[in-house]
Amino acid sequence: MIDDDKRIAAEDAVAEIRDGMLVGIGTGSTVAFAIRAIAARLPELRQAIFFATSIATEQAARDAGIPIGRFARTSRLDLTIDGADEIDPALRVIKGAGGALLREKIVAAASERMVVIADGSKQVERLGTAPLPVEVLPFARGFVAARLAALGAEPVLRMADEGSWRSDQGNIIFDCHFASFPDPAGLAVALQAIPGVMGHGLFLREVDAAYIADRGTVTKMERNTT
Ligand code: A5P
Repeated sequence: MIDDDKRIAAEDAVAEIRDGMLVGIGTGSTVAFAIRAIAARLPELRQAIFFATSIATEQAARDAGIPIGRFARTSRLDLTIDGADEIDPALRVIKGAGGALLREKIVAAASERMVVIADGSKQVERLGTAPLPVEVLPFARGFVAARLAALGAEPVLRMADEGSWRSDQGNIIFDCHFASFPDPAGLAVALQAIPGVMGHGLFLREVDAAYIADRGTVTKMERNTT
């Protein structure tokens, strides 16, 4: 059922893509459905160019026959479609459970419009139940862990079978649990100010719209720009 919701949310978002657009593709299990939906529309999107937010997405897109451009050679995209771990009523989002948060944030910042796709379990009244991922230069591991603790977090080093989990950039991730979640805007500023923090999973202004599917019905939330 959750997979059906992920699929219909992804299909509605993919319907926003027009031929000729430069389109960012996020990372994760919901985005996997977007990749399938994009592949199905490829005959009508011959002039569109797609950009991946992770090595995994690039591979999955290529496997589906989707041509992937080099993001390093571009500076702006028209649209990005990505997943989310938590979405609040103001379209503030936590991302990064899949570990691609740094590239996802860069691609989101480059995009004229960013939409997130999710099943209903991701909708929350207040951010902070999901752990907040923070990507850290391995050299700064101990220093950053102490600074995160001083901000009220319990930083848990993300692990893989062979040791600490590594991002596509070779960095580590601390999944941060907060006893009481601080003001998101202030927290974002404080995190970004720590030397050695490469990125964090708070997307507070990047998201323009969300397609959230709950038991077969997709609701579209659009950021109020007035
Ligand atoms: C990847 O780093 C994440 O930001 C994902 O987009 C997010 O975790 C949502 O993933 P799922 O669609 O798999 O829940």
